[in-house]
Amino acid sequence: MNEIYIGILGLGTVGSGVVQILTSNAEDITNRTNSHIHVKKVLVRNLQTPRSVSGDFTLTDQPDDILQDPDIDIIIEVMGGIEPARTYILEALRHGKNVVTANKDLLALHGHELLDAAKAAGKDLYFEASVAGGIPIIAALKQSLAANKISTVIGIINGTTNYILTAMTEQGRNYEEVLKEAQSLGYAEADPTSDVEGLDAARKLAILSSIAFNSRVTINDVYVDGISRITAEDIAYAKELDSCIKLLAIAKHQDDGLEIRVHPAILPKSHPLASVSGVFNAVYIVGDAVGETMFFGRGAGSLPTGSAVVSDIMQVVRNMETQSTSAINCTCYYDLPLKKSDD
Ligand code: NAP
Ligand code: HSE
Repeated sequence: MNEIYIGILGLGTVGSGVVQILTSNAEDITNRTNSHIHVKKVLVRNLQTPRSVSGDFTLTDQPDDILQDPDIDIIIEVMGGIEPARTYILEALRHGKNVVTANKDLLALHGHELLDAAKAAGKDLYFEASVAGGIPIIAALKQSLAANKISTVIGIINGTTNYILTAMTEQGRNYEEVLKEAQSLGYAEADPTSDVEGLDAARKLAILSSIAFNSRVTINDVYVDGISRITAEDIAYAKELDSCIKLLAIAKHQDDGLEIRVHPAILPKSHPLASVSGVFNAVYIVGDAVGETMFFGRGAGSLPTGSAVVSDIMQVVRNMETQSTSAINCTCYYDLPLKKSDD
């Protein structure tokens, strides 16, 4: 039996879910990885804040306590933001540690730099939780659909906005009130502007597009429009057309390049994505061999997101046992031309 030590950067919504799952499912996790996984240290900003989870770990507000701890094999970055998260991940890789992150903001901007650094260090960098919470969409694109030329990815990949639009449509509720509820449930980003203005979905779409089309897409390549200007009248108008309004993330590989955009769209109720309600996410993918396929699940929240993070940790542990590294090989990316959106 292997003894694996991990350090977690952040103990908020996602970090707490990770600790909870590692504790409650410890026996199965041990059996499936042939390893005891110990949370050794957890980094937080404020040591005085009361925590919803506890365990046999040390809380610290000093990143080097974790990044330079020679016993720690895997760093879990669930603190969010660009800096200092980027620096900590690069430092962790330099210190020979594998990394698991849920940080789509960082990946959508610096993902290629981080993957190159992981490759140079011969270490793993896994990021399943960065897109669509608990849905295993990154693993599906990297592995199960890898035989395909992907032509289309269409997703509802922001739980907060889908939660808001669903409540406005089905319960006639007010935008601000539902946004506050989504924040209190831990769905929204620290700054919910990212959610409602479509940036969070655009970041996730940049990550999905990079993998689906084997290209280097960043947030700056995505056309973005959010839901903050959607009114009760817009919702009523869509209903009259037997339709609903959804924030869609759309990426298409066409003969003349990639088209990548996020915006609200009126969807007929008969469309498969129209029935995706509340915090649920869904991703519809078309591949030349598989045809149409769709993935569905909870797109945000402590345990669904923790599920993706812990599954990544388990894969890293299995890789450590077999000495293999599965980070995406960035050097094989090629640059596809990006089409400019008309509007
Ligand atoms: P959160 O609830 O705000 O928690 C962030 C944690 O990181 C807190 O414990 C905070 O410490 C700590 N932290 C932040 N900045 C720090 C710093 N500079 N130094 C030390 N500690 C720091 O955030 P979250 O919702 O768990 O999200 C974490 C990451 O997961 C983000 O990248 C987010 O985009 C991503 N994500 C979230 C969800 C979701 O449903 N929430 C889903 C998928 C992905 P204190 O507690 O002391 O303030
Ligand atoms: N704020 C994000 C959402 C969290 O609502 O989808 C999950 O990435």
